[in-house]
Amino acid sequence: MNLTHEEKSILKGEKGYALQKAMQILVALGKTYNAKHLIPIKSAHIAGVSYKGLGDAGLEFLETLANEFPKVKVPTTMNPGGASPEMKVPGGFMQKQRRIIAAYQAMGITPTLTCTPYYVGNSPQKGDHIAWAESSAVVYANSVLGAYTNREGGPSALAAALIGKTPEYGMHLDKNRKPSITIEVKGKIRGVHAYAAVGYYAGKNSGSKVINFLFEGVQSKEELKGLSAALAASGAVPMFTLGEHTKETIQIGEKEINEVFEEFTSSEQPDLVCVGCPHASAEEIKQVSRMLKGRQVKGGVTFWIFTSKEIKKEAEDAGWSWDIEAAGAKLITDTCMVVAPLETLGFKVMATNSAKAAHYARSLCNLKTKLMSLEEIAAAATK
Ligand code: F3S
Repeated sequence: MNLTHEEKSILKGEKGYALQKAMQILVALGKTYNAKHLIPIKSAHIAGVSYKGLGDAGLEFLETLANEFPKVKVPTTMNPGGASPEMKVPGGFMQKQRRIIAAYQAMGITPTLTCTPYYVGNSPQKGDHIAWAESSAVVYANSVLGAYTNREGGPSALAAALIGKTPEYGMHLDKNRKPSITIEVKGKIRGVHAYAAVGYYAGKNSGSKVINFLFEGVQSKEELKGLSAALAASGAVPMFTLGEHTKETIQIGEKEINEVFEEFTSSEQPDLVCVGCPHASAEEIKQVSRMLKGRQVKGGVTFWIFTSKEIKKEAEDAGWSWDIEAAGAKLITDTCMVVAPLETLGFKVMATNSAKAAHYARSLCNLKTKLMSLEEIAAAATK
């Protein structure tokens, strides 16, 4: 890799341990993927914030880095952490979670604690090169926002943030952003859960290809967000396009979509409902509030809607949170149904409209999961 004089000096450790570690990560990645050099980025987004995933070793590593007070060179946001006070997770967990957030903040990272950084100010323009971790946000950024990012891991996103650069390979190059397969979806589909099911099926069957979708009708931003998250949960799809043409086309329809619903269908009644994977937009909260108006969450059911602090505030200002709280549901910020230690809270069956949440809550939280539409969730969980 061609490095500038400054980059070589950082690599030798002349600017401190933290920057040296960061540069080592970027150079190792660049060499692996034959990048010629590093390119500047406009923003970064860090995953690996939950204590559930990081553990004590991750916490100690972050505190060691933070002790040198390196500062990120570009605006950088944080993924959800492992808990919110309303969830009543064990005290020791919460304390360590706060130390992780403090270590990131010491490096200049904004504690947005959300996987939808594009709703809270980290919103790249078309053509911007960025270094984002959080696979759902990566697909959304590449496909809907038109930004250029690889699917970074927590360490490489942090390294890119500290250096302000990333190796130029993969999705940073136009030649890799062209779709190689078209998936034509027959029949009109509607709702986040349905697009999530398409994404889950497509991700599972397309590996890491860029996919072109042909849908009937127009999609909402929220449906595309659900599609993005599912593509990255069942596969490693980095990006999709809409309405283009490729040599290879496959058609899918009701049968394939139903296969996904059948994979996430428990016959038991849910004792937990989780909406907001990826974190809910203001529009989604408004929708939930309309559905819950005048209804009551059934006894024995916990109903959580995950979002960021900023969007929660917007929902409160608009009055949408009132009907939600009156029904006995809760808006939860700073965490989510997958990165929180739900497995310690006694739940058994989770209903959700997100294929990503259904996939990971099953494998990481030992829950049975049901993938349903918002309407079906409201009918099953309220009276
Ligand atoms: Fe976000 Fe958690 Fe889903 S980080 S994308 S809400 S698994």
